[in-house]
Amino acid sequence: MTIENIESVLKESRLFPPPAEFSAEAHIGSMEAYKEMHRRSLEEPEAFWREVSDELEWFEDWHTLVDDSEKPFFKWFLGGRLNACHNAVDRHAVGAMANKAAIVWEGEPGDTRVLTYRDLHREVQRFANTLKSLGIQKGDTVAIYLPMIPELAVAVLACARIGAVHSVIFAGFSADSIRDRVLDAKSKMVITGDGGWRRGKVLDLKSIVDEGVEGCDCIEHVLVVRRDEFGEAFPCEMKDGRDVWYHEAAAEVDAFCPCVSLDSEDLLFLLYTSGSTGKPKGIMHTVGGYSLYTYLTAKYVFDLKPEDVYWCTADVGWITGHSYILYGPLQNGATVVMYEGAPNAPDPSRFWKIVEKHRVSVFYTAPTAIRAFMKWGDEWLEDADLGSLRLLGSVGEPINPEAWMWYHEKIGGGRCPIVDTWWQTETGGILITPLPGVTPTKPGSATLPFFGVDAAILNAAGEEVSAGLLAIRRPWPSILRGVWGDPERYQKTYWCNWDGEFYFPGDGARRDDDGYIWVVGRVDDVVNVSGHRIGTAELESVFVEHPSVAESAVIGVPHEVKGQGLVAFVLLRGKDAEGSDELRAELNALVEKRIGKFARPERILFSADLPKTRSGKIMRRLLRDIATGQALGNVTTLADPSVIDSLKAKYTD
Ligand code: PRX
Repeated sequence: MTIENIESVLKESRLFPPPAEFSAEAHIGSMEAYKEMHRRSLEEPEAFWREVSDELEWFEDWHTLVDDSEKPFFKWFLGGRLNACHNAVDRHAVGAMANKAAIVWEGEPGDTRVLTYRDLHREVQRFANTLKSLGIQKGDTVAIYLPMIPELAVAVLACARIGAVHSVIFAGFSADSIRDRVLDAKSKMVITGDGGWRRGKVLDLKSIVDEGVEGCDCIEHVLVVRRDEFGEAFPCEMKDGRDVWYHEAAAEVDAFCPCVSLDSEDLLFLLYTSGSTGKPKGIMHTVGGYSLYTYLTAKYVFDLKPEDVYWCTADVGWITGHSYILYGPLQNGATVVMYEGAPNAPDPSRFWKIVEKHRVSVFYTAPTAIRAFMKWGDEWLEDADLGSLRLLGSVGEPINPEAWMWYHEKIGGGRCPIVDTWWQTETGGILITPLPGVTPTKPGSATLPFFGVDAAILNAAGEEVSAGLLAIRRPWPSILRGVWGDPERYQKTYWCNWDGEFYFPGDGARRDDDGYIWVVGRVDDVVNVSGHRIGTAELESVFVEHPSVAESAVIGVPHEVKGQGLVAFVLLRGKDAEGSDELRAELNALVEKRIGKFARPERILFSADLPKTRSGKIMRRLLRDIATGQALGNVTTLADPSVIDSLKAKYTD
């Protein structure tokens, strides 16, 4: 948890009520209405969820809302049968909606493609039949490693259509990370591409996949999508018998592929995320609860209307992209903008040009992007007409009040409500958020719980306090169903506190006098770098792989743009061993190889020793104090207090 954050939000007292004209048109337009719906969602959950679940199409109705007999392994909407792809695509692909744009895609070089709901329906069926023709069946796991091109959406929805479990791997991950995820999920196929554009360069995804799947016996095929900018592929090698060009295989299959009827509790996807141990965990989400919850949150939090053009700038490789580029908005029949490239390609006006060009009305991004734009300067906004915007959202990390105000004034023109949405990979959808037509907002606060969410702030003893650990009292429909292959880890990570009565997200928070929740950051060993979760233990285990490294401790420190950055303290083998720039480069290369470029620390510091307690535990708190220049906390429990002085001297070098 960053001290700066707590301090800045403690001082924050500005209040921004929703504009009256916004509330008048909003799905929910008053605090009374929100409170009544929230009360009902908790006190009469059967009736509440029955009503809203009727807004989706079910092949068979559910009979039991929730089964908690094997707590914390919850089941929702028992007896229900549905298909997430049907609700996201098929039901809009008939009648008046069929010719509405579903995905408005823009490539980094400026090429565009528009898929109507009918187009998307056609493409998804063809993709699904291609998967089937290559042996993929219901229950099989398919890894997807694609850039932000329309086929990423199509591939995900095609898996959902036939009941295959998608496991999307963000295209910034390394070959080693692909291998870990493929082996853990026992994926039968990887879907990748011949390339995609990122900051003017073509990503060479295929050779990363080749390296990643080498020796993975579970892999039967690598399906390669051609990005198709000029009707020609970027050069890549194809391995006989294993690798298949998507455009070739797709030409051979039938155009018609029905949706499979799935049980509410059938697995929809796995998405790997970092935790406080070295090994990423495969978060499990199932069809019924995830579909309904993402549908409902997208509808109310983004106040989606038929005429909206909605743009979430996340990558589908992360949960935000799953829930709020694909499933949530598409189930609402929205028009979704999808952009391939970097925010500053070719220059930092790119996002705003996209907003202007496509008349984006609802815009959802991360504080780290907002801070980057602030740094790049307001001149990049000057030529863009942002008048189409009516609602702004923020996600991924606490938003500092300065960034909130800049977003409000410069992007929102002072007229657009901002929804600061708190949630996680594990929660599947947004749990704490303002509703745009309802909630007076305060810069930096995620405000109040969504329907069905019973949030508390507790101390270790389980007492309600005004500042402490965020806790969720009961399950909600899209709660993770477990950690793939490791039920014990699920139980231990999320239900270890408070006699297993509350879900523990790993965040610290406080509640103000108005009952608003301010989430201040992680309290475990997970660091949020530019909205990406990185487990410090994961990085530490990468460093100790190097033959010169004896031990390491990685901590998160405040970072102007990224929110948090990583600092690694590395202890070398051999008493007199000295660090060098070459070694630093080797360690960085190792991080890139094992995890990905985005996980490289800001600083690697070689040290002769690490501050430890007498029982040998590294005192990270002290390392953080050193790195942030704070007065040092209690050092009396240290085995060797002199370590601190030498570290301090090194850090300030
Ligand atoms: O610490 C919280 C932070 O991001 C974590 C979840 O990360 P991830 O699973 O990668 O999902 C990110 C996108 C949903 C949380 O435990 N976080 C996310 N949103 C907010 C936030 N912290 C404060 N305010 C938010 N709005």
